[in-house]
Amino acid sequence: MCGIVGYVGKERALPRVLSGLKFLEYRGYDSAGVAYLFNDEVKITKEVGRISSLEKLIDLDADSYMAIGHTRWATHGEPSVSNSHPHRIGKFTVVHNGIIENYLSLKEDLKKKGIKFLSSTDTEVIPALLDYYYKSEKDILKTIKKVIGILEGSFALGIICDDDKENIYAVRRGSPLILALDKMGMFIASDVPAILCYTNKYILLEQNEIAKINKNSYQVYDQNLKEIKKEVKTFEGSQDAAMLNGYEHYMLKEIHEEEKVYLDTLNYYVSDNSFKETMPEFKKYNNIHIVACGSAYYVGCIAKNLIENYANIPVYVEVASEYRYKKNFYDSNTLVIIISQSGETADSLEALRRAKNDGIDTLAIVNVVLSSIAREAKYTLYVKAGPEIAVATTKAFLAQTTLMALLAVRLSRKNELLKEFVGVEKYINEILSRNYLDYAKEIAKSNDTFFIGRLVDYALCLEGSLKLKETAYINSVAFQAGELKHGTISLITKGTPVIGICTCHEIAPKTISNLKEVAARGAKIIYITSEEVEDNFYDKLIILPKLADLVMPIITVIPLQLIAYEVAKLKGCDIDKPRNLAKSVTVE
Ligand code: M6R
Repeated sequence: MCGIVGYVGKERALPRVLSGLKFLEYRGYDSAGVAYLFNDEVKITKEVGRISSLEKLIDLDADSYMAIGHTRWATHGEPSVSNSHPHRIGKFTVVHNGIIENYLSLKEDLKKKGIKFLSSTDTEVIPALLDYYYKSEKDILKTIKKVIGILEGSFALGIICDDDKENIYAVRRGSPLILALDKMGMFIASDVPAILCYTNKYILLEQNEIAKINKNSYQVYDQNLKEIKKEVKTFEGSQDAAMLNGYEHYMLKEIHEEEKVYLDTLNYYVSDNSFKETMPEFKKYNNIHIVACGSAYYVGCIAKNLIENYANIPVYVEVASEYRYKKNFYDSNTLVIIISQSGETADSLEALRRAKNDGIDTLAIVNVVLSSIAREAKYTLYVKAGPEIAVATTKAFLAQTTLMALLAVRLSRKNELLKEFVGVEKYINEILSRNYLDYAKEIAKSNDTFFIGRLVDYALCLEGSLKLKETAYINSVAFQAGELKHGTISLITKGTPVIGICTCHEIAPKTISNLKEVAARGAKIIYITSEEVEDNFYDKLIILPKLADLVMPIITVIPLQLIAYEVAKLKGCDIDKPRNLAKSVTVE
């Protein structure tokens, strides 16, 4: 995904747009650009790399009061200046988040009409179409309406037309976009953190709505160009949540927020060991499907264990990009749960839509308030993680795990289990205060790492392994402990780090046997458990507090996150913005 910011108002536009883009850099960071009105002309500056590289090319004091900017995560065409946004053809300059699926055929048609393209992006067809149809429509709004009728795919657009020196135009379908209002002007932005330095008042644009903003006012139109009234919302969180506040990286800051995130999530749904009305009963469901991507999928794997064990309801877990295309066995008593931090992940959103189209009830477990998944699901339960900036999710994972454990209790109808959540925050705090550098040093030396565990511990292994891959670029594989000997054990050589997780004590002897098997082949074992171990088969040990199985995953993930962080730091990786990634993946 990409980030868009636009500003028109009484203050200089470039500092506002640049500062907004910096807050959206988590959405994509391989190139960036701005278009701004200066001396009655639209000027464009673009650069490969981070916003900081772009900033060096820009005079922030330029007398410009209208600008649109973009930070890119490349989908069509490599990161390069010519592929960076804004794209301009004729009188139209455009920034775009999303994917235009029919761009190839559109481009061919436009080329036949004599239009020349400078980039290999899908986006460039948008200014080309706008410029082409403007010649006959002679009205900007009508032209935008016409063009969005032609585009297939997803888009959030910021548009400037040379013939209108006062207004920025915006429209969205699929990809998110907000308007924001300040005494000194108006913004468009992909996400709220971009504007929080200036205002917390914003308007959500709905599908196919077209907006027009100028220094004093805004108008929003439906797809028939009828002006509509929009609710102005107030963002309740603080700007602090999107600042580093003395931490070296957002990932570290966000891990250290986990005690608060745990309590905020718990207290939103539970009071005095009883569920509040914020948690519906979900009585009718006897079959559950959990659908998600990446780490959110691993939360689903943890939840499967908890719901099946405590509520005795069968749970099927699938990654969203598979689920949406396969034959699904569900009926009116099935609940399809979509887990998504961002609430915008394209595959998860499409899986949700598929279930809805099939008449199945859906529940969204989401962090970002009023995101697409949150709005489209039948039920939505928010995790209370606050803005998560680091691309690798940590505190949202812990909050999702907490909420799914609460849901397992709700579905089990054994409210007495809620007592297991009491005081967990103290353990979170204690685990956060430990030093994980020694474990990290062991792993940083190696190119390959294995995580092994059984049942819910295997789900945690999947997350630990992903954290290491995405932040520290270490090839890492998670395996069910008993499955390793069926082939993969051949990869274990002298010194290979193997992280064994065992919080399910009834099967501890089995997992320990598997760890001994790899130790015998030279592996260096880091053993994570909540029980004293007599045997000395490991090289390093992490002993966690022994809590109920229901809440154990909440604390067990923390060392995995901190180890990945420390390894990434030792290796000098770009921890908050790992290569090739973006915070939420709004492409399919
Ligand atoms: O926003 P979502 O939770 O839907 O995102 C799902 C995955 O893209 C996300 O968890 C991804 O795997 C992260 N990079 C994990 O740290």
